[in-house]
Parts: sequence; structure tokens; C-alpha cells
Amino acid sequence: MEERERIYDEFEHYIVPSSWKDRVWEIEDYKKFYESTIKDKEAIEKWWEGWANKLFWFKKWDKVLDDSNPPFYRWFVGAETNLAYLCLDWQIEQGRKNKVALIWEGEPFDEMIRRPKEMRKFTFYDLYRRTNRIAYALKEKLGVKKGEILTFYLPMIPELPEYMLAVQRIGASHSIVYSGFSALALAERAMAAGSRIIVTADGLYRRGKIIPLKEVVDEAIEICEERGHKIEKVIVVKRTNRPAIPWNRRRDIWHHEFIRYISENVRVETERMGSEDISYILYTSGTTGAPKGAQHSIGGYAVGLYTTMKLIFDINPDDIYWCAADIGWVTGHSYIVYGPLMTGATAVMYEGAPDYPKPDRWWHMIERFGVSVFYTTPTAVRALMKFPLDYVKKHDLSTLRIIHSVGEPINPEAFRWYYTNLGREDVVASSTWWMTETGQMLTGHFPGLGKIFPLKPGTNGYPIPGVKLEVVDEDGNPCEPGERGYFVITSPWPGMFMTLYKDPKRYIDVYWSKFNEKGMYFYTGDYAVKDKDGYIWVLGRADDVLKIAGHRIGTAEVESAMILHPAVAESACVGRPHEIKGEIPYIFTVLKQGFIPSPDLEGELKSHLRNTIGPIVASDATVLFVDMVPKTRSGKIMRRLLKAVVSGAPLGDTTTLEDEAAVEEAEKAYEYLKKAMEKAEK
Ligand code: WTA
Repeated sequence: MEERERIYDEFEHYIVPSSWKDRVWEIEDYKKFYESTIKDKEAIEKWWEGWANKLFWFKKWDKVLDDSNPPFYRWFVGAETNLAYLCLDWQIEQGRKNKVALIWEGEPFDEMIRRPKEMRKFTFYDLYRRTNRIAYALKEKLGVKKGEILTFYLPMIPELPEYMLAVQRIGASHSIVYSGFSALALAERAMAAGSRIIVTADGLYRRGKIIPLKEVVDEAIEICEERGHKIEKVIVVKRTNRPAIPWNRRRDIWHHEFIRYISENVRVETERMGSEDISYILYTSGTTGAPKGAQHSIGGYAVGLYTTMKLIFDINPDDIYWCAADIGWVTGHSYIVYGPLMTGATAVMYEGAPDYPKPDRWWHMIERFGVSVFYTTPTAVRALMKFPLDYVKKHDLSTLRIIHSVGEPINPEAFRWYYTNLGREDVVASSTWWMTETGQMLTGHFPGLGKIFPLKPGTNGYPIPGVKLEVVDEDGNPCEPGERGYFVITSPWPGMFMTLYKDPKRYIDVYWSKFNEKGMYFYTGDYAVKDKDGYIWVLGRADDVLKIAGHRIGTAEVESAMILHPAVAESACVGRPHEIKGEIPYIFTVLKQGFIPSPDLEGELKSHLRNTIGPIVASDATVLFVDMVPKTRSGKIMRRLLKAVVSGAPLGDTTTLEDEAAVEEAEKAYEYLKKAMEKAEK
């Protein structure tokens, strides 16, 4: 039995950090309190309205929640606010004008003096002025209007949050594409969002090397043009000083020239945005090839972030908060940029790799900045815990008081490592569960739980108030404690996405249809267990989505990329368990006649993956040549069988899980693939 599984039931695994005792809320019984916030619609509305009242609104709502047309829920109907206003103007109004909002550190490091070569601090007023200039330039020079979606393909540099806030100010929206995606992936997303403007950089620093970005954008634009979509302008931030950047004089403009003659004091009027207007689109992976554009709101999203920043991160004015994710993923949108700024926190943002130039870069940063609240990922923890403990011990990490992880399940061993070695066994710590679609964290272990809910290593903790989560069986009935089932959300929450951009039908089909006989259940795509104490344990994806180092990639995306290569007849991708990255892609590939398996061809296919999806998939992928990919009679790939093969598990009763599969055929296929794999491994 897995260690996580054993812990569900064992009392000796409970941990109560000593410092929680003075930090817990004044709530005697969290369970009772939680129940009171979800008992009916009025209770849910009352809970969220209480939080909404703490925020700034140009105009308050007529209705907290309109659920008359599910699953198209509408939060804070009739209200008006603006994310840039909440993050900057409102902070200044509250006396934070000269408080540091953002501490940015670049990757390049001077080993002689053991200091980063670049570190910049921005006050709320600095960011306010810088975003106003950008907003002005976008509006006046490029005619960006309310409702327009700009695509950003940027590394972790301050201009990224600045452009995000600039478009929010003028009522436009962004679609950010992670800088590890390929030209093709970028082109598809830019076209789907209908962007005519892309903001990028000349390149980025990664582990001491410079990786070009502008060239990728140029290639993406060519793809867009071939398909009849015009990108009119590319704004390029000069990050690396690389010489000889390809340049199209009519289309490309340097960011510093774009804003050069605009006064530092320029002010752009903040657009009063409807609560349900679009703040951003973020494309994420599903079970079919085409990425889905999760469309986020403004009012509800802000309330969801503000609440969780306070509740789960317990953010106070003197905290130094650091979320070590990339802004290209939802974690960075919500918990590097919008969440921390709107709560007036001082947030750290780091450009590069955690182990550059040495594996103590992060610990060094925590010490130098006095980080008190830290948000990280299981993959990073597992990677960094491999190095000698001295890397941690030589730094003073005593400022840390809260450490959470996100993105994938955390194994108890990794949890214990960080809890002990980073957290001195005296921090609030947990694995917070949420998704691109949920916009905000929905479970966690937070200071308010301390008194009665000690934490258990590896758990996702308890649902936050006002949100109903359930683990259900195939028919939608609640599972018994300890029993594995599908993880569903059974009540709407404010940070939720509103639809899939331009595809409401898919929104209903993918997320809200699986259990529709039971009611409006949001299907997360995850397996989970609820233990006897009500703790949630998310086990991983129940669908064909991979989590590679926490990055979300659909197996179908990989497969449709593979068959674009002339040598590939078909392929089936599954996740293989990996000690550090959680899982890595394993791609069973059948070649077309006339092509012969070889290491060269494998290399070529991997570079093909790099070009079609990006290094996130390509760098960890194994391509395995086989004669056939096992399928059910209806032609579906037998993924469970493949998963059993790659994880070295027995075939067991997996055949019963593949509806129409013939047992005998499946067994044959299993044996054949196992041998193929063993051979490849030798
Ligand atoms: C997984 C990331 C276990 C889960 C914020 C979910 C987690 C998917 C956790 C969403 C966690 C996220 N424990 N699994 N604490 N957090 N997941 O959209 O499978 O990139 O469905 O959002 O990540 O990934 P996404």
C-alpha cells in the first residue's frame, strides 16, 4: 500500500506545529463552522458577500449569485470593479504607496560576491506609474480597446505583470502562453484568442544560458499567416541584449521605444469593468487535442483570490510572500500577480532555475529577502531534496511561517522533508488543491484549522468555507470514507471560470455533464479520497491528462503532434511514474511502412515534439517503437493497459476497465509491450 494511503487512517501521523496555537482563528470547531457556510445557497452567498464587502467596487452588486442558468453562474451581478485598480490604486489609497509591492530577481548570479547580478524592488507607486505608461501606449498608439485580447509570450520579468495590469486598466484581457511552449502551440493559442498583438522578449535566461524567444514568435506568426490570421504588432522587451534579433520594421517594436516619450506622470482612466467581464483567457490542456480557453471573470475572481490569500496564506502587511511558479500557468496569474497585489503583500518574483548556479539559490533568496510565506511545487521539492542538506542548513530560513505546495499530489516523504528542513516542524503547511478552471485554491490546511485539524503529510487538507466538494462513484453517489472516487465540486464558487472562450457547449460537455443526473456537479477530472476526518486526498488525474513536473499536458495533444511527423502511423502516450517529476510522457509509436526504428529517428521525433509542443514534453519524453498500439473494439487506446506496462504493474483486472476489450488480446498486448519496453531499457 502506498504511504499516502496508509496515512489516511493512522493517528500517529498527525502533526500540530507549536506556533499554530497563537495563530488560529477564533473558531472553536471548524467543521461546524464550515457546515454553516455551505448549508444552503443563502449561507454560501452570505459567506462570499462578507469577503466581497472587504474589496473596492466602483459599484456594488444587485445580486451575489445568479444561478438561474446553470452551469453559467454569475457572481456579483451588476457590480463594477477593475483588477488593476484593486492591485494598485486601491493599495495606494490604503496608504501603501511607498510599500514594496514586488521584489524581482534575475537569474544571472555573481559567484564572487554571492549576489544576484540584478535585483529590483518596485513600490506600489512604481508599478502604478509603469503600468499607466504601458496602458497609455497600448491605448493611444495601438488603439487597444475594451474587450480586446492580447497574447503574451514572456519570461519571468517585471514587464509581464506590468503588461497584465496595463491591459486590465484599460479593460482589455490577456492570454498568456507559457514561454516553454513551441511556435505551433503559441500560434494556435494566439489564433484561438483572436489576438492581433503579441508581447514578447528577445530571450530569457535559463540555467545560465540564453534561450531565444523572438524567433519563436516570428515562426508562430508565419503559421498564423498561413492560416489567414494576421498579427499586426509585436512588442519586444529587451531582456538579454542578444545581437542580431530578426526584425520586421513595420510590425515589431521594442518595448522601451514603445513607451519612451510617454511621461512618467501619464494617467489612464481606469475602465469600470462589469463583474462578469473577461479578465483573461488561459489555455489549458484537456483530453482532446485542441486546448481549452478557460475564461475568467473580474469580480468573482477577485473575491476568490482575496479570500484565499487571507485564509490560506494568512497574508499580513509585513509578510514577504513568494510563489515560485511561472506566471505562464494559472498559479502565477492568481498567486504571483493578482492575489498578492490586491492584498497589499510584498511579493517576490524570480526569473530563473531553482538550482542555478547552485542548488541553494531558493534557500539563499528566502534568507536574503526574509520570506515568510512560500508557495512551491512537489517537483521542485523532490528535485532539491536530492542535494546534500548542507545547501539548506547554511541558510537562515527562520522567517518562514507558512509553506504550501500546489500542482500535483505531494508524497509524504517530500512533505516531511520540507516541513522539517525548511519549516523547522513549525510552519503551517499543506498541499493546496485547485485548477486553471477553479481560478482559486479550494482546499488546504490553513491557520484556522489548527486547533482541531492537525495536518497529515500528503493530504490536501479541508475544503475552504463556502465551497462544497465531494468524492463520488461512477453514478455520482458519495463514496465511503477511504474509498477512491471522482472529485467533484457541487456548489459554485466565485473564482470559477465562466465558460470556455467561444465554446460554451464544450464547457458544459467537459465539466458539467458527467453526473448531471445528480445535479450540477463540476467534474474536476481528478481521482480523490475523503478520509474519515473529512480530509481530501487528491490522487491524480482520472482522465488522459498528464502532470509533468506539475505542468498540465493532454496525452491527446502529444499524440496529435506525433502524427504530424511523416514517419508516424500512430502513437499512444501515457504517463510513467517518475521519482522527481511525478510523471513523464512515454510514447508508444507505430511507424509507417518503410521507416525503421533507430536512435536517430527517436531523436528526430523528440525534436519534432520540441517544435510542435515545446520542451516541457520533449525533454522528458521517451519514444518507444512498437508494432501496434492496443485498442478496444471501438478503437479507443487501452490506456490503463499501457499505464500498467510503463509502471511495471501487473495487468490485473485492468481488462475489465476497458469496456469492450477482449481479455485475451489485452493480455497478449500487455506481454508484448512489456517485452518491448524491457528490450528498449537494456
Ligand atoms: C493537479 C494548477 C494534487 C490536479 C493549479 C488538478 C493537484 C490539476 C494539486 C490542475 C494538489 C493541482 N494536489 N493534485 N495540491 N493541485 N493538482 O490547471 O490533477 O495546471 O486537476 O492548475 O493539477 O492543474 P492546473
